[in-house]
Amino acid sequence: MNTNKPVWQGAGRRIHMQEVGTRDGLQAEAAFVPTEDKIALVNALSEVGLAKIEVTSFVSPKAIPALRDAEQVLREIRRQPGIVYTALVPNVRGAERAVESKADELNLVMSASESHNVSNLRMTRERSYAGLSEVVRAVQGTGVAINVSLSCAMGCPMEGDVPMPVVLDWCHRYVEELGAGGVTLCDTTGMAYPTQVAELTRLFRERWPHTELTLHFHNTRGMGLANVLAAIDAGADRFDASLGGIGGCPYAPGASGNVCTEEVVHALALMGYDTGVDLPRLMAAARQLPGLIGHEVPSQILKAGRRLDLHPRPVVGDEIALRSASR
Ligand code: COA
Ligand code: ZN
Repeated sequence: MNTNKPVWQGAGRRIHMQEVGTRDGLQAEAAFVPTEDKIALVNALSEVGLAKIEVTSFVSPKAIPALRDAEQVLREIRRQPGIVYTALVPNVRGAERAVESKADELNLVMSASESHNVSNLRMTRERSYAGLSEVVRAVQGTGVAINVSLSCAMGCPMEGDVPMPVVLDWCHRYVEELGAGGVTLCDTTGMAYPTQVAELTRLFRERWPHTELTLHFHNTRGMGLANVLAAIDAGADRFDASLGGIGGCPYAPGASGNVCTEEVVHALALMGYDTGVDLPRLMAAARQLPGLIGHEVPSQILKAGRRLDLHPRPVVGDEIALRSASR
C-alpha cells in the first residue's frame, strides 16, 4: 500500500489560474516599473500555462501612476493563443482605451460596498453601474468579453460585513440584466474566511451555473490559501493570484498582497489538481520581481523552495551528525 498517497486528491480536476501581478501587483508599488520590463514580464508569464493574464488597468493615471503606460504594454506584449489578456476598466473612458489597445476582455470594476466604491472610484455604486452598463452595451457584438469584478465582496474595511444578498444582487444585475459572461468576487482586503467563502461560492454556483466565476483573494490575514481550498470544495475552478504575492488596492485601508500564484500552484499540484502551470518557469518569473520593484516579495515558496527541493545530507564523518544519530 502506498502510504504517501495524498489524503485529499484533486483527481486531475482543472483549476484555471489567472495572473494579476502586473495589475493588482504593480498598482500597489511605489516604484514605476519601466514599460519594457512590464512587457518582458507579461511575455514570460505568457509561457507558463496561465489561463488569463490581467495585463494592466485603464484607470486615471492620476489615481494609479504606476500603470500610466497601459496602452503601450497591452499593445506591445507577445500574445499566446489560448490565453485571455484582460484589463481592469472603471468607466467608459477606460473601456475605450482598452478596446483601442485590443484587450480580449474588459474586467469592469466596482465595489460591493458603497464606502469603498466612493473611496476607490469617486462615485456611488449606482453611478458606477450606470457607466459600466453603457460600456457593456457599447461592446456588445464586438467579440470583446465582459467580466465584472466586485471589490470588497467578502467584507469592507470601512463598513464591515457586506451582506451576501447585497453581493448576489449586484451579481444578478450584471449577469441577468447586462449579460456579463463572468463575475469575480474579490476579497480586496483579506477579510474573507473559509466557511463564508464556501457559502458564497455555493450560492453563486447554484444560481448561475454557466457564468464564469472567479475568486480573488488577498492574503492580508493569512487565510488566502485556506479560502482557495474552501472555494474549490464548494465548486469554484478559477482563481486570481499574483506573482510573488504582491498587490493591494491603494484606496482600501490596510490592503496587502494577493494570494501568491506560485504558492497556490504548488499546493494545488501536490493535491492532484491540474492547473496547467509550469511551476519552475513560474518561479523563474517570480525571481525577477525583487529586481523590478526594489524589495523582497511575500512568496514563501521562493524562499523555502518546493516541498521536495531537498538539501544535501550531512557528509559521513560530520561529528555532530554522527553523534546525534547514535543517541
Ligand atoms: N483613463 C484615463 N483617464 C481618465 C479615466 C480613465 N479611465 N477616467 C477619467 N480620466 C481622467 C479624466 O479625463 C479627467 O482628466 P483631466 O483631469 O485631465 O480632465 C480626470 O481623469 C478626472 O476625471 P473624472 O471623470 O472626474 O474622474 P474622477 O477624478 O472622479 O476619478 C476614476 C474617477 C474612476 C477615473 C478614478 O477614481 C480611477 O481611475 N480610479 C481607479 C482606482 C484604481 O485603479 N484602484 C485600484 C484598482 S481596484
Ligand atoms: Zn485585489
